[in-house]
Amino acid sequence: MQRVVRPARAIRGALTVPGNKSVSHRAAIFNAIAAGAQTGDRPVDAVIRDFQRSEDTLATLRCLRLLGADWRWRNETTLVVRGVGRHGLHEPDRVLDCRNSGTTMRLLAGLLAGQPFFSVLTGDRSLRSRPMDRIVTPLRRMGADIRGRDGDTRAPVSVRGKRLKGIDYRSPVASAQVKGAVLLAALYAEGETTFEEPALSRDHSERMLRAMGASVRSRGSTVLLRPLRRDLRPLSLRVPGDISAAAPWIVLAACHRDAELRLRGVGVNPTRTGVLDALALMGADVRLSRPRDWGPEPVADITVRSSRLRGAEIAGDLVPRAVDELPLLALAACFARGETLIRDAAELRVKESDRIRATVRGLRALGADVQELPDGLRVRPTRRRLRGAAVSSLGDHRLAMTFAVAGLLARGSTVVRNAGAVAVSYPLFWRDLDSVSGR
Ligand code: S3P
Repeated sequence: MQRVVRPARAIRGALTVPGNKSVSHRAAIFNAIAAGAQTGDRPVDAVIRDFQRSEDTLATLRCLRLLGADWRWRNETTLVVRGVGRHGLHEPDRVLDCRNSGTTMRLLAGLLAGQPFFSVLTGDRSLRSRPMDRIVTPLRRMGADIRGRDGDTRAPVSVRGKRLKGIDYRSPVASAQVKGAVLLAALYAEGETTFEEPALSRDHSERMLRAMGASVRSRGSTVLLRPLRRDLRPLSLRVPGDISAAAPWIVLAACHRDAELRLRGVGVNPTRTGVLDALALMGADVRLSRPRDWGPEPVADITVRSSRLRGAEIAGDLVPRAVDELPLLALAACFARGETLIRDAAELRVKESDRIRATVRGLRALGADVQELPDGLRVRPTRRRLRGAAVSSLGDHRLAMTFAVAGLLARGSTVVRNAGAVAVSYPLFWRDLDSVSGR
């Protein structure tokens, strides 16, 4: 599927973006192994409102069903999960297909490492090319029997559950997926586990596990977790709007000449707000209002207006806090005065696509002055506005959205090839694009 995007005259309106993807995956997985069915005479259900119903989270739900989890839809975006208890899962009689979702594969590998049965995880071509040694190494150290293709570095991955022991692990990468895998395995291990990472990655797992009664302590970028002595308590919650789904609109409004946009109920967990901090460094007019908590996560409304942007350096601890928004920040940099440098972001090369290379290619096709660096990109202002061209998402949802926003800001028509990729995290993206651009 391809979409033609034409420049928007004005950007106006208010949007509610889909629920946070990371929180949705975790709410489904953790609640699946919570007490639920075994609590007292009456089973306790976890009711998860504003669950992100997308291809990625559906992959998690389908895998969980094959493992014996009990969930159903109450309506379009309300998911009801009845926990089967921490020992209630069973061996799947089929391969678990994680499709495009790294979070599904890595978190489930951690969960399965301690289950008394055998399972195999696979995914689409993109996911099968992504590194899995980052979870194989710590899980093996805990005693897991886990193997993979290509010298145990790629999926398909097989897991034969074992009795695990807690470890002290220093992860070479700041990654919430690796952290989530280790923490899930650690719930089933004997003895405590500590997980330390070079910079703090998103802490949704820690917050949610704590709210469900697990013993989790965090200090800086280190987490300490004690194994479960009883089942997790089911956790009903309203999932905050995904800041990664809000980011295309935030960048669009900041870069557009005539824009004012309000985004309601967006998750503003500080481990996720790097995009707001980077835009603040660039001089964007972004304001937060009505701060509140939805379960373990902070939420606010965000108002963005047309801004005069300047270049900035985006590096260090800011990078994991904005990791999925860096292609959009590179786009914003095309509208700034002065140079922007994005560094320390080599992780972008192992996302759903090589996002450094693909962003450079796409933005260059639109006339931007962008240079590829081993661990990031350099963007220099050009005198002329971006001009429409044909660009491909390469099947990567974040790039499809970035190039669509670029099209609203460019002169002439932009063709986004492989535009259906947005369904991985934001199935109604194109509808919302029409709505904010007044079509
Ligand atoms: C995610 C963690 C990040 C992020 C991904 C979702 C998660 O990946 O890019 O979109 O839900 O844990 P890494 O853990 O590889 O940084």
